[in-house]
Amino acid sequence: MNILILNGPNLNMLGKREPEIYGNKSYEDLERYLKGFEQSFNVTIDVKQSNLEGILIDLLQYADDRFDGVILNAGAFTHYSYALYDAIKSISIPVVEVHLSDLTKREDFRKISVIKEACVASIMGLGFQSYEEGLKILLRGSEQK
Ligand code: DQA
Repeated sequence: MNILILNGPNLNMLGKREPEIYGNKSYEDLERYLKGFEQSFNVTIDVKQSNLEGILIDLLQYADDRFDGVILNAGAFTHYSYALYDAIKSISIPVVEVHLSDLTKREDFRKISVIKEACVASIMGLGFQSYEEGLKILLRGSEQK
């Protein structure tokens, strides 16, 4: 399976950004962790990050037909980007929404995910491990086909 992992705005600031919420590990640490899935799950992993909504949309469209699934941490776009919602709806591969932090325990605006309904599942609050749980959902989905 070929999996695209897409990280949205400010995730490149991991380690520096609000460490009490997101931890001390850097974005490079996250990338290394995600690449490690190739060995442990026998999959191919591509990891991309952008602070720009349009680039995330372009990458989702690009992924259709080229990847078997997407793990998406849309950052703050999660809470208001109907354009990302539309992009997820417009492709035919499954997209799992993931978050490092537990959005149910944070500011009210974070409790709403406008992309949730377009995704096959949402995982949050497990730090880096949210991505692993997201991958397992994609792997389980592919077994059922
Ligand atoms: C986040 C949660 C979002 O609310 C926030 O804007 C982020 C990161 C998370 O991984 O916990 O940038 O998606």
